[in-house]
Amino acid sequence: MIVAANFKMHKTRKETKEYLKELKKIDFNGVKVAVFPPFTALMEDELIGAQNAYPAINGAFTGEIGLEQLNEFNIKRVLIGHSERRHIIGESQEFISKKFDFYKEKGFEIFYCIGEPLEVRKKGIDEVVKYLQNQLVGIDLEYEKLTVAYEPVWAIGTGESASIEKIKETHAEIRKFTTRPVLYGGSVKPDNIKEIINIPNVDGVLIGGASLDVETFKEMIKIAKEIK
Ligand code: PGA
Repeated sequence: MIVAANFKMHKTRKETKEYLKELKKIDFNGVKVAVFPPFTALMEDELIGAQNAYPAINGAFTGEIGLEQLNEFNIKRVLIGHSERRHIIGESQEFISKKFDFYKEKGFEIFYCIGEPLEVRKKGIDEVVKYLQNQLVGIDLEYEKLTVAYEPVWAIGTGESASIEKIKETHAEIRKFTTRPVLYGGSVKPDNIKEIINIPNVDGVLIGGASLDVETFKEMIKIAKEIK
């Protein structure tokens, strides 16, 4: 069972340090925990991963960070393909797959995000599967350090997660593509985490908003521990 926190553009370095200190007061007991803070809060810690990274060691890529900067903090985990980067920043599948290849080649653990927008979901599961397949183009789905995160765009940050039925049917489809762990993300919170992680083919969760409060995040880890 994997429980991951995506801080997005929240928290400072100081706040992240305090968060980790609080978080580590509990025994994870076999639950794998990952925390993705903003770049400015990257630090050497086994829980930490980067929310994004450019596919190069270093170079003329203003506003980006690459392998050299991650190495400084001994970071070996990266999130790639989050819908906010695909849709707000405008990253293409081609670029995303380049990042994947680069960090795979460097032996990173990769949390790879996919998820359809509402207009696609409205067309039904076949269209959803086609959309997700396009987000998997160029990705080695059996990479031994891959974790996939299915995050329907319409459920992210809305407070309303996808229904159990929709998560179930979609994860069953994703399972046909990979044997690696598949997380669900999109408005996961203490109220719904238990039901969600009990769904077949859900191997954990990626949590945005509800991870920002460390006590809430710890509560969710505790629930995951019981189910594991
Ligand atoms: P949310 O975000 O939990 O705030 O919906 C999840 C994510 O985008 O990773």
